[in-house]
Amino acid sequence: MKIQVVTLFPEMIAGALGFGIVGRAVERGLLSVGTEDPRKHTSDVHRTVDDRPYGGGPGMVLKPEPMLAAIRAAHERLPPGSPRIHLSAQGEPLGQAQARELAALPGFLLVAGRYEGLDERVVELGIDREVSIGDYVLSGGELPALVVIDAVARLLPGALGDERSNVEESFVAGLLDWPHYTRPELFEGLAVPPVLLSGNHADIRRWRLEQAVTRTYARRPDLIARGELGPEASRLLSEFLAARAPGTEDRG
Ligand code: ADE
Repeated sequence: MKIQVVTLFPEMIAGALGFGIVGRAVERGLLSVGTEDPRKHTSDVHRTVDDRPYGGGPGMVLKPEPMLAAIRAAHERLPPGSPRIHLSAQGEPLGQAQARELAALPGFLLVAGRYEGLDERVVELGIDREVSIGDYVLSGGELPALVVIDAVARLLPGALGDERSNVEESFVAGLLDWPHYTRPELFEGLAVPPVLLSGNHADIRRWRLEQAVTRTYARRPDLIARGELGPEASRLLSEFLAARAPGTEDRG
């Protein structure tokens, strides 16, 4: 998997990639990440990359010439057909489905803006897709680019030390995670739930799924409303609702 990032702060990207699962994916050659600085594509003495917005108003807009030149230079280093993705609060929300889709590609380009953002003509000429990491405004696209890289890197075959981790992830597709415990058995007066010490794998699996379903119901009902639960999770949810308010499980 080859990723290129167009950014005015290449050190922010390079500096964050050496750790944990992403660091290991890079080390193992499963992933390579390069950067392209639009400042390299300026010709004035001040290496100017921004200018005042037409129509007035506060803030600055990234000048189109260096941005598009950087996008083209970085794109040439990627496999043919690699999509050019602009990180933007106006973009399509990033979810696990989008991460999976990107992880299946041979490569993609990420464009991180700063200031008020890109000149719209750069979006028209040099961007295939816009992605948002959530409904909040950040001061630049570098952290969103790193979020995308992290979500994708851990899905690359061989990136996780224990391949069961991704199998388990699909087992709870569409649900929040269950609670985790490690030693000691009693910590500051709090005990590990006895079922986890029982050695009964069927009971443990059922308890975990139940926890995942009830947590999702309580904290993120929107995830359940999307209707993406697997058959076992759906059954457990119906049982949970039936136990909570008998006879009302089909009302909503
Ligand atoms: N740039 C600024 N805010 C952003 C967001 N929420 N997602 C992606 N890129 C952004």
